[in-house]
Amino acid sequence: MLNDIQEVLYDEGQIQAKVKELGETLSRDFGGRNPLVICVLKGAFVFMSDLVKKMSIPLEIDFMAVSSYGQSTKSSGVVKIIKDLDASVEGRDVLIVEDIIDSGLTLSYLIDVLERRNAKSVTVATLFDKPARRAVDLEADYTGFSLPDEFVVGYGLDYAEQYRNLPFIGILKPEVYQK
Ligand code: XMP
Ligand code: MG
Repeated sequence: MLNDIQEVLYDEGQIQAKVKELGETLSRDFGGRNPLVICVLKGAFVFMSDLVKKMSIPLEIDFMAVSSYGQSTKSSGVVKIIKDLDASVEGRDVLIVEDIIDSGLTLSYLIDVLERRNAKSVTVATLFDKPARRAVDLEADYTGFSLPDEFVVGYGLDYAEQYRNLPFIGILKPEVYQK
């Protein structure tokens, strides 16, 4: 598995330090608001799990699964809800937790859905961002790291469902997905 990684971009220590910093900032900004923290499955599950442990305020969590990629490394632009929330977002301060923003299509669709369901506010925290690849005008409210335009895996991110369990984020060797 480690043989398939061309370069580690951020190691475990760097990621954990950033997640702690984000958790502390979010605790300050969402204190007293009992936010509904939404994990966008599957990729955000690792970040979500570490992040909420660094948030020292009352909050609720829920999960949503959307698909936009399938087995490919490029966005199809088509977003589908695979698993919807259990909770109602009406009147709630919602915090969307994303693993990575690439084209921005997934996120713009999600924000739209939650706003139409009358969330009181919709805020986005993403650990990784690839600003060079944006297809829609959209920025996260909280971003961990900006990444180069390379396909990355680890810390929740996959290629064909593999590599999610790596504790760091790295660039996948192109020969792995060009096979
Ligand atoms: P969009 O293009 O809608 O994409 O912003 C967001 C979703 O695409 C996935 N994604 C990646 N997954 N390595 C991955 O493993 C990547 O480099 C990558 N870029 C985008 C991811 O699921 C994200 O939620
Ligand atoms: Mg994926």
